[in-house]
Amino acid sequence: MTNNINDLPNLDGEQLPAMDHDALRASGPEHAPRILLLYGSLRQRSFSRLVTEESNRLLQVLGADTRIFNPSGLPLPDDADENHPKVQELRELVQWCEGMVWCSPERHGAMTSVMKAQIDWIPLSMGAVRPTQGKTLAVMQVSGGSQSFNAVNQMRILGRWMRMITIPNQSSVAKAFMEFDDDNRMKPSPYYNRIVDVVEELMKFTLLTRGASDYLTNRYSERIENAEQLSARVNQRAI
Ligand SMILES: Cc1cc2nc3c(=O)[nH]c(=O)nc-3n(C[C@H](O)[C@H](O)[C@H](O)COP(=O)(O)O)c2cc1C
Repeated sequence: MTNNINDLPNLDGEQLPAMDHDALRASGPEHAPRILLLYGSLRQRSFSRLVTEESNRLLQVLGADTRIFNPSGLPLPDDADENHPKVQELRELVQWCEGMVWCSPERHGAMTSVMKAQIDWIPLSMGAVRPTQGKTLAVMQVSGGSQSFNAVNQMRILGRWMRMITIPNQSSVAKAFMEFDDDNRMKPSPYYNRIVDVVEELMKFTLLTRGASDYLTNRYSERIENAEQLSARVNQRAI
């Protein structure tokens, strides 16, 4: 065993200095944080949509520029090609945004297929661009039964898979059918306060990280891979 970092195997000095630690100190973009909200139900009076709309109002009050994607008409994954207008709409919104809110109902102890289908239509990479990498994410769920975290736990895994910065706080509204009034507005409650907490935290993390997204997501192993691919291409051209 060695205690000297310079003696560690496989650490190629040429790849290491590429990180720009000043990125965190640089002033970020000035525009309003761009937040995309996705929900996972097509029911006419959907409580996950109502929670999404409530979050949307709060985000706007906090100064965000927001869009809500309506999943109605989105084909099942691979049941249409990617030029389908709803797929294009979703992908453009994902590229536009700097942070997201995902709010799924819990069905059979899991997120809904409607929620998952939207995520499955978002590619991990589009050419050289990774449309979700380094963007912030807040996860929320509603359920008909007692308190549960199955859907938010699953969406956290998805957030990691999509290389997103999933914020620590989250919302889970139990017995959601009891939480809305006849105008489809959320009644005052600890659940409502928790949603305010979550969107506030999302705003803070988005403002903190959006200007440093490249820095935060820069990986040593991928710098090595890119360097190897580049040198293989150069060698091939030289033959
Ligand atoms: C097929 C089905 C399965 C469900 N499974 C669960 C469940 O596992 N846990 C739970 O708390 N509620 C469950 N529910 C209740 C839903 O979470 C609840 O109705 C919720 O409001 C649905 O979201 P929406 O209003 O956005 O459509 C289930 C409902 C349906 C129709």
